[in-house]
Amino acid sequence: MAKAVETKNNRENEDNMIDLDALTVKDLKSYAAEKNIDLPSKARKKDIIKLIKENEGTESETPSANSDADHEEYDDEKELIEAFEELEYEEELEDGEDFEDVFIDEDESDVEDNKAVSIKDSSINSLDECIKAVKALPGVGEATLNKLIKAGFNSLEAIAYTPPKIIQEDSGLGEKSTAKLIKASMDKLGIGFKSGEEIWEHRKNIARVTTNNKEFDDLLGGGIETGSVTEFFGEFRTGKTQIMHQLCVNVQLPKEQGGLEGNALYIDTEGTFRPERIIQMAEALDLDYKKILKNIIFGRAYNSDHQILLVKDSANLIKEKNIKLIIVDSLIGHFRSEYVGRGTLASRQQLINQHIHDLLRLCDIHSDLAVVVTNQVSSKPDVFYGNPTTHTGGHVVAHGTTIRIFLRKGKGEQRIAKVVDAPNLPESEAVFTITEGGIGEP
Ligand code: GTP
Ligand code: MG
Repeated sequence: MAKAVETKNNRENEDNMIDLDALTVKDLKSYAAEKNIDLPSKARKKDIIKLIKENEGTESETPSANSDADHEEYDDEKELIEAFEELEYEEELEDGEDFEDVFIDEDESDVEDNKAVSIKDSSINSLDECIKAVKALPGVGEATLNKLIKAGFNSLEAIAYTPPKIIQEDSGLGEKSTAKLIKASMDKLGIGFKSGEEIWEHRKNIARVTTNNKEFDDLLGGGIETGSVTEFFGEFRTGKTQIMHQLCVNVQLPKEQGGLEGNALYIDTEGTFRPERIIQMAEALDLDYKKILKNIIFGRAYNSDHQILLVKDSANLIKEKNIKLIIVDSLIGHFRSEYVGRGTLASRQQLINQHIHDLLRLCDIHSDLAVVVTNQVSSKPDVFYGNPTTHTGGHVVAHGTTIRIFLRKGKGEQRIAKVVDAPNLPESEAVFTITEGGIGEP
């Protein structure tokens, strides 16, 4: 037994009043072991104290004014423990002390709620915070919460962005409950309605990066916008990666030439970044290619976790390295290959959603930053949820990215770009070419 317990025990034995509450779970366990008290494997501090008291005959027979409340809390927490355990938190919860920590953290997070959080803090939404938000939705009792968590819908985003049918199928909830949950989650996240004044304030500061093609720029209202996540989607060889290379060069141009006088951060998930192409594109614009290459910060993402981490880490580089453009080529390739099958849908969609929100948050915080992602059209609708004729990633990407551009092949070097679903841009098309010098006029 730990020394502290011995000391306490000796002292307490003298006056027969051991202060069990003051002991750690470990010490309580040792104390119980000494008294030959059997404890359940994942006993909480309260349980242990109760068992010790029962064993020693010191448990009050008459329930105190607080005992009902305590009991309620216990049931509440017990349900949550089970939910946490199912989320493979056994290791942390195995040890009673760690378990206590989980709930202490949760309490502390209440205090933090009203504070402005930094990008780093907000991008690491802890699981218990997400669960708390779900629990706070109207109509979500313990039973509903457990069903949602078991099916992987443990955040407002996971509920709001997942089609109702899938939520119903995976969680076993009814149609009406699901519809209400989705509506409430969307309301909480502010999906669907935004203040016009806010949007106007935001849009007044928008700058643009040229694509090197007048028609293409016009299609985009002047070029790739800052403060937004722009998504290029299309089949293979439609020019997504070529456009990404071109933007890395163009973002470095003076503002009067269609640049942002800033640097680029390139997150390459497919290993298709080619410095040779940058050199060709820089030379075509009479730029010093060495300087251009130096101003492109490159990160190769080897898997989806690494990709998420690179984006989170980029938050610290933006100001330091004067980053004005972040590229993710491609956005969901890793997710698609790593999470196969319908059973993984909820967690995959949630991860993609969080990833996009990390990117959107970067745009919210840095209004002079443009984020551009690519997305390959899926030819296997059964493998990845979403309409294969639009883009992969399902509703998550559709809701997350602000501007979406569909690319398709034309004759020879020609490619056709079409803006899809952009609120302020007509659904018109532009023709551009891919040449040795990069993106050009037909
Ligand atoms: P996936 O990543 O496979 O989905 O395709 P993507 O849309 O990223 O295609 P990418 O941007 O890599 O475009 C490939 C196309 O660019 C090819 O069809 C080539 O024709 C064209 N391309 C690449 N480099 C050159 C070049 O140096 N000269 C010319 N003329 N065309 C090029
Ligand atoms: Mg590509």
